[in-house]
Amino acid sequence: MLKKNKKNNEPLRIAVLGSGKGSNCQSIIDAIANGSLSAEIVCVISDVEDAYIIERGIENGIPSRFISAAPYKTKLDGQAEQNYLEELRRYDAEVIVLAGFMRIVKKRLLDAFPRRILNIHPALLPAFPGVDSWKQALDYGVKIAGCTVHYVDEGIDTGSIIVQRAVPVLDDDTPELLHTRIQVEEHKAYPDALRILRAIIRD
Ligand code: GRF
Repeated sequence: MLKKNKKNNEPLRIAVLGSGKGSNCQSIIDAIANGSLSAEIVCVISDVEDAYIIERGIENGIPSRFISAAPYKTKLDGQAEQNYLEELRRYDAEVIVLAGFMRIVKKRLLDAFPRRILNIHPALLPAFPGVDSWKQALDYGVKIAGCTVHYVDEGIDTGSIIVQRAVPVLDDDTPELLHTRIQVEEHKAYPDALRILRAIIRD
């Protein structure tokens, strides 16, 4: 008889890093609560002291805190990177979910979590990497926009793609309307990607 590896049944231990309101974090919390994702968010970390994602985490009983990434403005590096690593190890995180985390993750963290760091990007990569990509899409005049969940590598929005979801661009769209429509799909895409990653890790 085949022995069942106990670890296969264990929830995925996810750390969420974010800089903003945390609606993607909420979608993962909801997927766990409704039983469609076998996971636990072990900690939430934000580089923005008053980011709503921290409050959201605390409200949901998740250890959640601000950890400064200063003195850098756009990357997680040096002592700050070390502080993040210590927090991630303290909670024995297996997978890192970047959910609106507005910093470039550097080699030390990538090497500590190979193929275990995901990001969500509000465009259909490889189109429109970087910031405000829904605005880029609207300015360009594409008729289909969307979101991408991908592995994080050393580039900016360049890692291999796990899930994409598309939305139409409407004639009277504003950047805000389009971003809201994309976010509805993001909230399905992240739990989907985590189910896929869980299957890869556990099976
Ligand atoms: C999302 O649109 C995500 O694609 C981008 O930042 C936004 C974060 O939103 N990377 P939230 O904080 O999860 O609500």
